[in-house]
Amino acid sequence: MSQIKTIKDVNLKGKKVFVRVDFNVPFDNKGEISDDTRIVAALPTIKYLIDEGAMAVLTSHLGRPKSKADTQFSLAPVAKALSEKLGKPVAFVDDCIGPKVKEACAAMKPGDVVLLENSRFYPEEKKNDPEFAKKLAEDTGAEAYVNDAFGTAHRAHATTAGVAAYLPVKVAGLLIEKELEFLGSKTENPDRPFTVILGGAKVSDKITVIDSLLDKCDSMLIGGAMAYTFALAKGKKVGSSLVEADKVDLAKAALEKAKAKGVNFLLPVDNVVSNSIDFAGGTVGELKVMEDIEDGWSGVDIGPKTVELYKGEISKSKTILWNGPMGIFEIKACAAGTFAIAEAVAKSDAVSIVGGGDSVKAVKKSGYAKDVTFISTGGGASLEFLEGKELPGVAVLDRK
Ligand code: 3PG
Repeated sequence: MSQIKTIKDVNLKGKKVFVRVDFNVPFDNKGEISDDTRIVAALPTIKYLIDEGAMAVLTSHLGRPKSKADTQFSLAPVAKALSEKLGKPVAFVDDCIGPKVKEACAAMKPGDVVLLENSRFYPEEKKNDPEFAKKLAEDTGAEAYVNDAFGTAHRAHATTAGVAAYLPVKVAGLLIEKELEFLGSKTENPDRPFTVILGGAKVSDKITVIDSLLDKCDSMLIGGAMAYTFALAKGKKVGSSLVEADKVDLAKAALEKAKAKGVNFLLPVDNVVSNSIDFAGGTVGELKVMEDIEDGWSGVDIGPKTVELYKGEISKSKTILWNGPMGIFEIKACAAGTFAIAEAVAKSDAVSIVGGGDSVKAVKKSGYAKDVTFISTGGGASLEFLEGKELPGVAVLDRK
């Protein structure tokens, strides 16, 4: 990160700046924004630009619309929410290229903020179409590119990557800077012991992350359904638990790598299991705790002994990275393990970093989010970054 230029390294005073943010926020069934984390996370960059006397032309996608006809994906409600948070008007333009954009951007004064309509209303956005990217730059009249959309930095789209080719200055915003510091530098050169907690359903989703983090961490604690694939790899009984039988070899290879690297690789020593799970209804049948899972029973959470074992590791750590829940935390009866880990992570003195959509949801639901050092705004982006991939939205930025 230290080589990537940020808004603090360039003079943007009086300049019109094309700012890609990630305002892909969830809405409830009444059409209200149900979680404004990503709007709040973009405020430092927007406020910095206002204070510098720059003109901020904000762009984002929202959801996965097919065309402009999908009006439920309009960013208009986000403009209203942003304006309230900034305490100043945010002019909303119901297009992201064309005459309306030209007119609104030409009328901007230093310190003004404009939000353009959902860039994905044009299929050219996802195709990273060069003509579309050029129009974004030309119609806004932008003189610099700021990318602060960490959550979308793993996409090579016109607003996240292509447009940069048409602007002379390309720098990171303060959110991307912070994300790369915590997910990058703090895990590359961690205060030790460095403990990684990984959960979630599938080994296949996380195998590259596991491989990459085994090179860096001292301990790795596994939970979630992927623990059952590891249990299979160790020859244990998993009953009817969700497993990826065809990924047992990958799990075995990870276990071998952990051994070769001297990583303390821990799997659950007991499991909360149920004889029926209704995901849609959000209910489970009878619950028991088992070490080896008997036929007819499925693992739904880590067990109490595992919670104590993992808490012991967490309390000894100086850096903690957590990705993926320990069980089906969405169902209250199966959330205890995930919430206990959230509490232990939040209460530890370590630098604690939580990345990835589901673990972030779990930490928020547990009530301990405010005590975590850093919560990533990236789902897919944080995973790809932790896998060691270069993110296209970061690759296009100027180096120092
Ligand atoms: C996300 O929510 O992960 C980002 O905003 C990217 O959205 P996408 O997966 O639709 O590209």
